[in-house]
Amino acid sequence: MARQAPELDYAKWLARWDKQQESFNPNRERRFDAMFDVLEAWLPRRFTALDLGCGPGSLSARLLRRFPAARVVAVDFDPVVLRIGQGALRGLRDRITWIDADLGARGWTTQLRTRHFDAGLSTTALHWLSPVRLRRLYYDIGELLRAGGVFLNGDILPWEAKRRNLRRLVEGIRRHRFGGKSLQAEWAPWRRWWRDLEKESALKAEFRERKSRFSKPHGASDLIPLDFHERALRRAGFRDVEVVWQELEDRILLAVR
Ligand SMILES: C[S@@+](CC[C@H](N)C(=O)[O-])C[C@H]1O[C@@H](n2cnc3c(N)ncnc32)[C@H](O)[C@@H]1O
Repeated sequence: MARQAPELDYAKWLARWDKQQESFNPNRERRFDAMFDVLEAWLPRRFTALDLGCGPGSLSARLLRRFPAARVVAVDFDPVVLRIGQGALRGLRDRITWIDADLGARGWTTQLRTRHFDAGLSTTALHWLSPVRLRRLYYDIGELLRAGGVFLNGDILPWEAKRRNLRRLVEGIRRHRFGGKSLQAEWAPWRRWWRDLEKESALKAEFRERKSRFSKPHGASDLIPLDFHERALRRAGFRDVEVVWQELEDRILLAVR
């Protein structure tokens, strides 16, 4: 008789995800909290939010815990993290909808069952998109949010390259904090998470699909500067566009529809 593969320990993989993300972003929890403080001040108790580039659902899980009447639509294009999230957050099933979609592709919003959101949020994700795709995504988000709705992007949003003194300052502090380690070394826990997870035979099909979707790695050198985001959001019809929290270049950019 064929033996069934053991069920994946989804909660463990999500906890390990959080740990590796925190290793290179020690302010991660404070940044989540700061985003939720904005939602609390801005929105009614009952609201629907989009989590863009949700990964295995860290932001969505925290949001649903803090706002018991809220609902989330969580979007990602990576079948591996989607499966981890769906498994780990099974208990929240009736409040979270998972969407497998490429945020950089035209027409991705047609996969959504509702097109009326109070908030859009994203953490450590939109830096994967090229400037052209990011600009288009901001238009898409603008169309999905109701008037008065808010968009919050928590990510490394660097100063422009020509502001060399500020870039040098940030780099100096970063090196000091991480004991002089290179950026590559900072990412070691992230790489280890992926390497270990790939050994799970239950995820073979998802890994195969992931590889076909994400052929090109992205790097920190491609990060799009803050002022590009601000301009693109204003052009997409957002009115107030302001940084509402920051720690060096790790910021939350708020945009009001
Ligand atoms: C570093 S993870 C962050 C995940 C989560 N927001 C968090 O804070 O833990 C970046 C996520 O963006 C997703 N992503 C990258 N490009 C994407 C795209 N074009 N469409 C949808 N998701 C994308 C990746 O699959 C990944 O899950």
